[in-house]
Amino acid sequence: MEFKFLLPCKVVMEPGLRERTGEHLQALGLTRVLIVTDPGVKAAGLLDSVYASLEKADIAFEEVSDIKANPRSEDINQIAQQYRGTGIDGLLAAGGGSAMDAAKAISLLLTHEGRIEDYEGSFTAKHAIPPIVAIPTTAGTGSEVTCFAVITDTARQFKMSVLDYRIGPVLALLDSHITDTLPSSIAAATGMDALTHAIEAYTCRVSNPISDGLALHAIGLISQNLKPAVLEPGNLKAREQMLVASLIAGMAFGNADVASVHCISEAIGGMYDTPHGVGNAIFLPFVFAHNRDADIVRHAQVAYALGIDPTLSPVDAAQAAVGHLFQMSADLGIPRFAEVKGVREEDFLTIAEKSKQNFSDASNAKAMSVQAYHDIITTAYNFVV
Ligand SMILES: [Fe+2]
Repeated sequence: MEFKFLLPCKVVMEPGLRERTGEHLQALGLTRVLIVTDPGVKAAGLLDSVYASLEKADIAFEEVSDIKANPRSEDINQIAQQYRGTGIDGLLAAGGGSAMDAAKAISLLLTHEGRIEDYEGSFTAKHAIPPIVAIPTTAGTGSEVTCFAVITDTARQFKMSVLDYRIGPVLALLDSHITDTLPSSIAAATGMDALTHAIEAYTCRVSNPISDGLALHAIGLISQNLKPAVLEPGNLKAREQMLVASLIAGMAFGNADVASVHCISEAIGGMYDTPHGVGNAIFLPFVFAHNRDADIVRHAQVAYALGIDPTLSPVDAAQAAVGHLFQMSADLGIPRFAEVKGVREEDFLTIAEKSKQNFSDASNAKAMSVQAYHDIITTAYNFVV
């Protein structure tokens, strides 16, 4: 056996933690930070107590608050150019995956020449970058504890990955109440993203004994809490549990990988701007069904963690999990692939080719061809509940 496990991030979770953001940044020696967030977080007032705490701690800050879903390389390059050489000594990323991934890419470019496209791939950074502190505002991405950033290369309409230990946040601040007012549709899609992280981390070819334990625990937590968090207004305990589950799933896939569900979801996200969690939720059951015979025991263990009858045989449990995943998405109001905005059948080959080019394609449990991706995409498109 051979594996590595790295988690260079301190995690703190408490109710009302945002009010103490300044203290935590002060402890890191930060004096001038760039806040990276999105318009929804800003408009919801989620950062009001963060601003007050930074002022109280005498930490100067500037803010970029227009990060869009599926952050684009041209925006990242422009923001980095604007803030290079301005004395920023840390980044405060507040939002879902888009804001956190954008902050990682911007931080890298603050001390590196060129464009983010120049740093696609693994371990391309050459020297230290300003530390990143992450405040996740959704329960799904896990980006607060991963060393990945996914950025849409606008010229290629391709979601590219940057993987480097240097871009992993040094501190994750989880405020137990931060997702209390998250709209149900976002809680559903981001929660299915977290579930996909955990399932792909467990079933991919590069899992390890530590990521396995984290992934199975996350699957169990999500199975118990995602539907109540979305469908029961005011179930704040379930929302808090989802924030924990998302974090744990992030730790798992950050030290294993994701796989073909993400390859397809990122391909359609780069082409149609489909929300990441929606893309994952749509393709998760199809890829799970396709992959299960590559490792029936692991797929059955996922099934049992999802709450499938433990007396079922591994083959029957893995089969039951496929139906369970379809039902979960339907219950949460996830659309079918044919209902996704902009989807055209003539694009399917391009989607399949982009999926095959994805960084995580090689990690999938079963070796994938462009044809195999095309078949899954076509089956999903024609799927009727
Ligand atoms: Fe994801």
